[in-house]
Amino acid sequence: MKLAFLASGRGSNFEALVNACQQGRVDAQPAMLIVDQPQAGALQVAQRLNIPAHVLPATDKATHERAIAALLQKEDIDLLLLAGYMRLLSPFLVGLMYDSRLGQSRILNIHPADTRRYQGLHGYRWALQNQLTQTAVTVHYVDEGMDTGPIIAQESLPILPNDDIDSLQRRGLALEHDLYPRALQSVIKELQSLCAVS
Ligand code: GRF
Repeated sequence: MKLAFLASGRGSNFEALVNACQQGRVDAQPAMLIVDQPQAGALQVAQRLNIPAHVLPATDKATHERAIAALLQKEDIDLLLLAGYMRLLSPFLVGLMYDSRLGQSRILNIHPADTRRYQGLHGYRWALQNQLTQTAVTVHYVDEGMDTGPIIAQESLPILPNDDIDSLQRRGLALEHDLYPRALQSVIKELQSLCAVS
């Protein structure tokens, strides 16, 4: 299984996923990183981990996605992992990765909340502002909507009385870095069993 990653920022989930592959916890080869921002921290992570990286500016969405599609096809990518990628995907890219046996596109994302309760940016801030005592992190399939794809795995995240955004985000990211590789491995197992029966 060859993986491609799409990121816009820091890249800590990208790093956790590549580490999991390199340590044998995920049965896949991280083949490339694509970013839409030349200043994305994920680029330094890719350099450190020796993963080929591409900067594809997104001034025009259609051109951006066509360039992504060309790279995915050229490298024969099996799964696309969003890791802090700040854009919605169009039906073109979602359709390109659609797998009829899986009934989903082969695209995953991680979201710092329960996607059934909150969609969009700043999930940890939303949980604090709403004085929740517990929130969640969610790995889900990606469709054209904003965090609307079917849930693959979810973990709850308790909010402590003296949590602030930094402490909550720190614990949340640690949970994300554990959950995302496990969810990815479960999807890979499912794809392998679908291939075995077809
Ligand atoms: C994470 O909180 C992730 O859940 C969300 O965006 C953030 C990306 O962080 N989708 P990083 O770039 O992986 O460090």
